[in-house]
Amino acid sequence: MSGFIIDVDIAKARTLSTEFYTHPRYFEEAREKIFVHAWQFIGDEDLVKEPGSCFPFQLLGDHLPEPLVLTRDKQNRLHCLSNVCTHRGNLLVNEACTSANIRCKYHGRLFGLDGKMISMPEFREVKEFPAPTDDLHPLELFQWGKLLFTTLEKEVEAKLFFKEMIDRLSWLPLHEFVFRPELSKDYRVAAHWALYCENYLEGFHIPFVH
Ligand code: FES
Ligand SMILES: [Fe+2]
Repeated sequence: MSGFIIDVDIAKARTLSTEFYTHPRYFEEAREKIFVHAWQFIGDEDLVKEPGSCFPFQLLGDHLPEPLVLTRDKQNRLHCLSNVCTHRGNLLVNEACTSANIRCKYHGRLFGLDGKMISMPEFREVKEFPAPTDDLHPLELFQWGKLLFTTLEKEVEAKLFFKEMIDRLSWLPLHEFVFRPELSKDYRVAAHWALYCENYLEGFHIPFVH
């Protein structure tokens, strides 16, 4: 990101300048340069418990507005796919459902739960059809215990991206974890994302503000 130089030595590093938090240009630049390439949390695999389950989602709410769908096919394999029809861009799956395949409700193009195009009405005469570009664009899926992650534009292998977390937390029986909504709380923090990260990293606020 242009214009911000942070010393890697924390003893010499200074707080970022105000523009980083206030200027839309840097907010956009961070979205493109950091969030689009990073691995993002989807949820756990209970989102698609049974073979045939489809779960539409976006990563980070409206921050990365790319329509995606998580599926579990008949062979119990999980897939993370583009939720946009390869014909004219119609949104395919609008709500969580169970189905043997994905049918576009615009002109009826049919896809398997692995994203492969199966059939298309009125396309019998079309040459070299279907092509691989007619399949739904697949995204890489990384599974850590029950937790699922994907990335819009991979820059780093997941194993490397998560290495330090996995090294430190491999003793946790993540595959046994169960989401308990009644014990969960959501907090909406009206702040720049970086301020929240800084708060998390600066645990020395705890004896003062808590
Ligand atoms: S947009 Fe999906 S079949 Fe035409
Ligand atoms: Fe805190």
